[in-house]
Amino acid sequence: MTQADTDPRATAANLEARFLERRAKVGVLGLGYVGLPLARGICHAGFTILGLDSDPEKVARLNGGRSYIGHIPDEDIGALVASGRFRATADVTEVSGLDAILICVPTPLTRNRAPDLSFVLGTGRSIAPHLRAGQLVVLESTTYPGTTMQELKPELEAGGLKSGVDFFLAYSPEREDPANPLHSGSTVPRVVGGDGAEATALACALYGQVTEKTVPVSSVDTAEAVKLAENVFRAVNIALVNELKVIYSRMGIDIWEVVEAASTKPFGYMPFYPGPGLGGHCIPIDPFYLTWKAREFEVPTRFIELAGEINATMPNYVVDRLALALNDRFAKGLKGSRILLLGFAYKKNIGDERESPAFKLVELLEGRGARVDYYDPYVPEVPVTREHAHLAGRTSVAWDEIFAGGYDAALICTDHDGVDYAALVEALPLVVDTRNATRDLRGGRDNIVMA
Ligand SMILES: NC(=O)c1ccc[n+]([C@@H]2O[C@H](COP(=O)([O-])OP(=O)(O)OC[C@H]3O[C@@H](n4cnc5c(N)ncnc54)[C@H](O)[C@@H]3O)[C@@H](O)[C@H]2O)c1
Repeated sequence: MTQADTDPRATAANLEARFLERRAKVGVLGLGYVGLPLARGICHAGFTILGLDSDPEKVARLNGGRSYIGHIPDEDIGALVASGRFRATADVTEVSGLDAILICVPTPLTRNRAPDLSFVLGTGRSIAPHLRAGQLVVLESTTYPGTTMQELKPELEAGGLKSGVDFFLAYSPEREDPANPLHSGSTVPRVVGGDGAEATALACALYGQVTEKTVPVSSVDTAEAVKLAENVFRAVNIALVNELKVIYSRMGIDIWEVVEAASTKPFGYMPFYPGPGLGGHCIPIDPFYLTWKAREFEVPTRFIELAGEINATMPNYVVDRLALALNDRFAKGLKGSRILLLGFAYKKNIGDERESPAFKLVELLEGRGARVDYYDPYVPEVPVTREHAHLAGRTSVAWDEIFAGGYDAALICTDHDGVDYAALVEALPLVVDTRNATRDLRGGRDNIVMA
């Protein structure tokens, strides 16, 4: 690789023109829950897309026109491939042929709950030797302020090119909400912070072709901070409503009815809903990226930690409610009882089980001697996970098996649509509902306990 000898302003102008005319070749690196829909959206806007993923199985499936994400149908992937403007590869050397590289790799926590930047930094290291002058690189993965400038940029520049001179670097957080029918990538505004005004303008030029609105901010760190602010906001408000749930439940007041009525206030209130605990790749993880980074600045993060603590106790609360109901109604203990967990995914209508409270619920119930099966049409088999490897390989019972008798209670963990909750409540002596999935049922209410 050689240092660019071109005028950076001319390079930027050329790149901007390619974005505005949708002639650019865009690479999406990391084709998961974020990267795949992003690649689809950019391809629909008319760009040529190269999807890069280190998992050769995913690459083969995509090139064969098949999806591996439940809410993205095979037909969508087939249409992308048939358009001739989408191809997937595991070969990172191909980044040299791209105009823009959008990085959407995972940002999990380590076992000690510290940020694990190995995917981001590994990506930087692997693409650096193949960068060429005149490219835009954008990190989209959620992370703490300073990651792009202090961690990723040095990895990229180790290849010999300079950010702001030879290539352009920016951060733009992904705001994907999987399977949300109301908001898609094209309607959700894009926050953009670049390493220099040119990088910001270029990233806005690209995202402006695929979203209705771009929101440039003054720095890369600010853009990173925006994403964490959004997710901390959710975590804290969910904790608050979970705490209210516990208080109101003691008072005999239904939190769901309270939230619904409070939501009629046209200002100063926004509904958040209680549940059996946090799940997914964002809300249980991202706030701890900030608490970890804040330590470096000797700033306590009590509010965020407290929210984490309250949310983390929810599976215990839910299991206690179930145990109490079995005891009070049937003089039974959890030990030896047969419990059906309804829903394993962390949210409705998707097959993403990452960080789902279902894992914890199964462990708590079995730890107290219950025999647990689960039903989830979106998660036919529990995959291997780092934290809960011993649950891998368990399979969902078939819907009909639920009615063969023998279950003492069902615990609704995920409120998937399309489930016949009326039949469930009719067939089982006790249904513990953590999601208000049974709200519309008139009959059988005596069998339902909210938790
Ligand atoms: N899932 C969401 O709803 C969501 C929403 C907003 C933001 N985010 C953030 O987006 C990022 C990605 O999340 P996700 O849910 O899409 O993760 P994911 O695990 O679904 O997908 C990541 C993909 O990256 C691939 N990958 C890993 N290392 C790679 C490498 N070195 N080179 C190429 N590919 C590599 C993996 O094989 C996988 O396909 C995270 O930072 C997450 O916090 C996620």
